[in-house]
Amino acid sequence: MYNEKVMQIFSNPKHVGEMKNASGVGMVGNEVCGDIMKLYIKVNEKEEIVDASFKTFGCAAAIVSSSVACDLIIGKTIEEALKLKNSDIIEYIGELPSQKIHCSMLAKEALEEAVKDYRKKQEKLAKKEAEVKTEKQAKQTKNADKKEEKIDTKADKKATLSKLSSITNKLKDNKEKKEDKKTNKLKDLSNKIKNLKK
Ligand code: FES
Repeated sequence: MYNEKVMQIFSNPKHVGEMKNASGVGMVGNEVCGDIMKLYIKVNEKEEIVDASFKTFGCAAAIVSSSVACDLIIGKTIEEALKLKNSDIIEYIGELPSQKIHCSMLAKEALEEAVKDYRKKQEKLAKKEAEVKTEKQAKQTKNADKKEEKIDTKADKKATLSKLSSITNKLKDNKEKKEDKKTNKLKDLSNKIKNLKK
């Protein structure tokens, strides 16, 4: 039923198993047979797929196609990987029985779902980062306001202190003037007495 290459890959498939901390995970089911495929991708900051793996409850054709699909997408950017066609997989393995062509579609569909999942996670991350940034900015503004308020209070205190000191000086002046007036009056009186006594 299968050619030699398919049998070779099937007896030693690559990239099998769950991936911890995957950047994206896609799961699809095959409507024809009801089998399921889960594909994991790890993506770097340049949006290159640095690793891929799969788990499937599928037939030999599904296992072989997924192993090949992982091989073909590793090292490609997401955009490049999404261009992967079913015919690329079949071309790689030579041929597949016509009744098994639908099995080879699973990997491509699962990849599309994994990319969707990756994009969703990225969006969530960006949102969270934006929230943290806004929170940080709000905190900084609050701290700056508090600092300004402190400076204002210090300036107010200084102004009040200078007002009070000027009032105190005025009162002191008035008191001194009054005392001078009193002394002069006393002097006048004493002179008058002296004159009368002569
Ligand atoms: Fe279900 Fe091949 S028969 S994946």
